[in-house]
Order: sequence, then structure tokens, then C-alpha cells
Amino acid sequence: MRVPMTAGNWKMNTTIREATDLVSEMRPLLDQIENIDKVICPPFISLAAVKELIRGSSIKLGAQNVYFEEEGAYTGEISPLMLADLCEFIIIGHSERRQYFNETGELVNKKILAVLRAGLKPILCIGERLEENEAGKTEEILAEQLRLSLAGVDYPRSLIIAYEPVWAIGTGKAANSKQTNETIGFIRCKIAKLYSDEIAQNMRILYGGSINADNIAEFVQQPEIDGALVGGASLKATEFVSIVKQTSQIKGR
Ligand code: PGA
Repeated sequence: MRVPMTAGNWKMNTTIREATDLVSEMRPLLDQIENIDKVICPPFISLAAVKELIRGSSIKLGAQNVYFEEEGAYTGEISPLMLADLCEFIIIGHSERRQYFNETGELVNKKILAVLRAGLKPILCIGERLEENEAGKTEEILAEQLRLSLAGVDYPRSLIIAYEPVWAIGTGKAANSKQTNETIGFIRCKIAKLYSDEIAQNMRILYGGSINADNIAEFVQQPEIDGALVGGASLKATEFVSIVKQTSQIKGR
């Protein structure tokens, strides 16, 4: 039995004040929803303040990025050790990082290894671009991203995967839910081949890309989809709460 999950990726949005206001609004509502992992991923600068605010709450905290070294002369970077005190999850390999910050599969792999070493839980993002999708290369691309990201990872027990087709992120054009179910089924098969059936069956695989309160239900009704990584809609308290609630109702049945 996989515990469903909704994770909110706030991206480069909110000042510390705005972040704490948003969390204060969400907290009482999210705390009423059970049988689901609710994760919010504010910018680094707000993690400490948000951590204080959610003390005693069922809300969990994640970061949006990390560097792979533990410490040293890496101006501007944040290490897994620094985050270990603050949060439980770390988004790795988001397509925006691959696109704007030139993150390669090798770098994603180093980050995954470092995050697992620090005892944190990576949310590994993979997904094909539009031209790759149109050329029928989705499975090939995903298989290659998995192979590169997970090289040297012996036992990815705490890993979560987010399947995010690049063309669906921030575009208002979510993928087709049935198609996504098949693609996530493919990812699960790949994990079973790389590791074992047991690991694949226990691994949570989320969908991400233009999820909102109106379309979440059709996605989480699909058996392979364990929840969502939500961008834009995670910045609106009532909308995010509705996404979490619908996921818990549907997956909790
Ligand atoms: P979106 O972003 O929900 O705004 O499309 C999803 C993501 O980038 O994780």
C-alpha cells in the first residue's frame, strides 16, 4: 500500500512574509486531511520560518534543489547536510533546472546520491520534451533519465519519482490522464527491472504538469498515479487544499 502524496513546488515565489502567511492559511485546513503525505517546498530562505510554523502539524517540508558536496568553497550553494535539519524531501532534477541551469543527468545523479547519503528523501523529476513526445520517444527518454539518475543507487527505498512531461509544466495543458497512467506504469516496470518488484510496488510515482483542483481527480483515479507535484496551484491555499483533499478521498477508498 502506497501512501498518496501531494507536493507543492512553490518555485521562485514568495518572500518570507508571504510564505509564512500562505502556510498559516493552509495549516489548519491541511491538518484536517488524513491518509496522505502533504509536502510543501518553499524557497530556501523561508524553510526555517516555515519549519517553525508547522511544528506539531502533519505538513512536511521539502526543498527545491541542493548541491551534492557536503561543505566547502561553493559560493551560493546549499548542501544536503544543511538541509537535513530543516526538511525531509528535496526536489531533484526539475526540468526548469535542467533547462535554465544546465543540469545534466550526471549532476542529477550526484545530487540523488548525496541526498540519500544525508538521509533525505529525493523527489526525482523526469519527463520528456514536446519534440521527444511527438517523435514517440517518451519511453526511451524516461528510461535513459532513470538509468542516469539512479546510477550507483543500490536501494532507492525513500525515493519518490515525479513524472513531469516538460510540455505540460506551467502551460495549462495537462497530459492525458490515461496516457499518464500507462507512462507511470512503464516507469514502475523500469524500476522493477533495475531493482525489484517489491521496490517498484512500494515506490510512489507522482504526476506533475498543470495540475489544479479541477483536473486532479481524473489523475488520481488512475491506479498507477500516487499523487501530484503541483506548481502554480500550490501557491493558492484553497486550491492546494482541495487538491490534497480530493487525492486523499480518492486514494483512501
Ligand atoms: P505546474 O508546475 O503545476 O505549474 O505546471 C509543476 C511543476 O513544475 O512541478
